[in-house]
Amino acid sequence: MPLVTTTEMFRKAYEGGYAIGAFNVNNMEIVQGITEAALGENSAVILQVSAGARKYAKHNYLMGLVMAAEKETGLPIALHLDHGEDFEICRSCVDGGFTSVMIDGSKHSFEDNIALTRKVVEYAHAHGVVVEGELGKLAGIEDDVNVADADAQFTDPAQVEEFVTKTGVDSLAIAIGTSHGAYKFKPGQKPRLRFDILEEIQRRIPGFPIVLHGASSVPQQYVEIINRFGGQMPDAIGIPEDMLRQAAKMAVCKINIDSDLRIAMTASVRRHLAENPSHFDPRQFLAPGRDAIREIVSHKIKDVLGSSGSAK
Ligand code: G3H
Ligand code: 13P
Ligand code: ZN
Repeated sequence: MPLVTTTEMFRKAYEGGYAIGAFNVNNMEIVQGITEAALGENSAVILQVSAGARKYAKHNYLMGLVMAAEKETGLPIALHLDHGEDFEICRSCVDGGFTSVMIDGSKHSFEDNIALTRKVVEYAHAHGVVVEGELGKLAGIEDDVNVADADAQFTDPAQVEEFVTKTGVDSLAIAIGTSHGAYKFKPGQKPRLRFDILEEIQRRIPGFPIVLHGASSVPQQYVEIINRFGGQMPDAIGIPEDMLRQAAKMAVCKINIDSDLRIAMTASVRRHLAENPSHFDPRQFLAPGRDAIREIVSHKIKDVLGSSGSAK
């Protein structure tokens, strides 16, 4: 099966009350860990690439790795541009074989966001590629840009119909209290998502696939390993997994997870090197890093997203 768009995945996910995981990829071990987990769960999966990942690994390497994963697993895999910031990067990914792109116009005014998103949709749809837009602003860190909590903004449900109609997007990322990075809520803070906003959006655009960014849960067992073996991650709280499960049962069809994979892989590599100080062959520590990615992605698919079996 060639790489697929997200259209069919989202249709089934909406109807089935689950979400497809969108996991960020930067190198071979990450691509392998994610897709081996998806194969084990017989789940459709979205592999997403940020501008930073393209800079680090280069478009052609990532493309080759994802094509190889598709060949190895035979799963429905969508290759998605994460947080495209302008028309040019979206065009380059459409031309370069991606099946889905995000145009993140959330930093612009409502009108400019519509105009930019519409332009990307026209180009992408003419090439058989689907588009994710964003309304509202998440706090946190993306590509080293830090959006302060004060600049974050929940999505205004009153704007979603106009945005979706005027742009022609295929899915919509919204801000309901999630944020990017490993430090979402301070210790002692009670995590809260605005399910009332999600419900109102779902009521206004029934059947339309919603996307949640910033959905890592910051698993404490891995943070503890990182710190036990020389790391210095401050205490932090992520998005509780039961809240993500709840969102997946609603209109949320795509859930973005990156930080949790980074934390799991780093914990595993740190532990391996600390316990095996004589090792210097990168395969010796990258293999356990890949195992940790597989383990955490299996858990997300099975226990959080609910997408096991969706590949059939
Ligand atoms: O939302 C951002 C993703 O976690 C990608 O992060 O831009 O550092 O590759 P990155
Ligand atoms: P996390 O930092 O919570 O993993 O979010 C990732 C993300 O939204 C990628 O677009
Ligand atoms: Zn994001």
